[in-house]
Amino acid sequence: MLFGGTGDLSRKKLLPALYYLFCENRLPRKARLIGAARSEPEEGFKQFVQAAIEEGVESEFLEAGTVAAFLSTVRFAPISVGEPGGMAALAELLNEDSERRCAFYLATPPSLYTPLVEALAGAGLTGPRATLALEKPIGKNLESAVAINTALAEHFPESRTFRVDHYLGKATVQNLLALRFGNSILEPIWRAPFIRHVQITVAEEAGVEGRQGYYDGVGALRDMVQNHIMQLVCLVAMEPPVRLSGESVRDEKLKVVRALRPITGPAVMTETVRGQYAEGAVGGKPVPAYGDSGSADTETYVAVAAEVNNWRWERTPFFLRTGKRMGSRDTEIVIQFGALPHLVFREQDASKLQPNRLTIRLQPEENIELVLMGSRAGIGMEHMELAPLSLSLSRMGGKPPRRRIAYERLFTDWLNGDQTLFVGREEVEESWRWIDGILAGWAEQGLKPAPYAAGGWGPAEADKMLEDYDAAWRNPGQSE
Ligand code: BG6
Repeated sequence: MLFGGTGDLSRKKLLPALYYLFCENRLPRKARLIGAARSEPEEGFKQFVQAAIEEGVESEFLEAGTVAAFLSTVRFAPISVGEPGGMAALAELLNEDSERRCAFYLATPPSLYTPLVEALAGAGLTGPRATLALEKPIGKNLESAVAINTALAEHFPESRTFRVDHYLGKATVQNLLALRFGNSILEPIWRAPFIRHVQITVAEEAGVEGRQGYYDGVGALRDMVQNHIMQLVCLVAMEPPVRLSGESVRDEKLKVVRALRPITGPAVMTETVRGQYAEGAVGGKPVPAYGDSGSADTETYVAVAAEVNNWRWERTPFFLRTGKRMGSRDTEIVIQFGALPHLVFREQDASKLQPNRLTIRLQPEENIELVLMGSRAGIGMEHMELAPLSLSLSRMGGKPPRRRIAYERLFTDWLNGDQTLFVGREEVEESWRWIDGILAGWAEQGLKPAPYAAGGWGPAEADKMLEDYDAAWRNPGQSE
């Protein structure tokens, strides 16, 4: 049951993902999909679903019989918070079959989470066979997140609550877990001082499009760092879990969030950068400044020099950045290894040496690449010709599989009751605690967003921040 069933997220991602699962027989055979919203779209919900899958699904999967079979499972329920009638009618429909398992997905603004769950409880729909999945953001600071989590916990215990962060459903995230915990050779060097620093970049070409109402006053730190980037930090930095289960993985991720050095007060001036895009061009097309229609105090870019203060990562900065209207759409994690302890090569060769680097790319393509130094086998030792060689670690050979929508994985795990790729309550709250410290520092220091040209790589202040660490951002596509 999809609350917010007629929203943007449902149309673009959730409905196409459910359709793919249906095509692959991954949904329970008797499953029904009920969309809920205040009112049914004019064209009818079935038409809405059909349009969403025609838009979001590859044409080879749109066989008419399959589409019709999927649509035959679709229903609509008009539900308005504060009007109990709708929920009562829904309860009647769902209780027709006492064996039915209900899976509720909240893809609404977070302000509706508590009233919706209370209404579900009021209609007797939160029994032990029901599970709840909810989208980010959970609140807008620690206080509101605690209030939502507490209210929800009254009706859904943690074991039946699935907090979604769609970054955890991306294929490379699973690959990262396989790389870290399925190989023994990386583990001894996966730490300070072998790793000099870690960079995480989530760059988007897109602006905020139709979402300004949500984004203005929220900004990049809350929209992207509190959740998606935090999850990536956790997966890179966490200790090996005892097993790949929800509880073990969450325990280890939580320790990482707790180990983040707080960035508060004057530290925000040297360890964070806020930016807002000014006029520019993206993909050859002119783009107006964010400030033309949005608030001057909303950051569309943020960079943070974070530190995980524990044994493994002491003095290894984690440079995090994300921005709208950047040079290209790229999400990558760069693990930068240290320089050689001693040089054996002649000067002209040594100048070509680069420290090793592991790049875990989530977008635009999903790939893991290791850069090692090699020689272009010249003849004679005076022609060592050192050159970086890059090794792709994620090509399994054969035709690349269809690139899945992250939600396909998450829906499957949710319906199977597996919480490994979902976010625990404490993680969310600890993450807000850290973010709140930065937000308070910005307010206290009066830090305003610095302008950057749309289509560029963020404000100059962010480059300067890394120079102070004797490091530099690796911009996607940058040549060696
Ligand atoms: C969402 C943010 O959670 O993630 C958006 O609210 C952002 O602002 C989006 O654009 C990015 O997701 P993806 O999968 O396109 O990188």
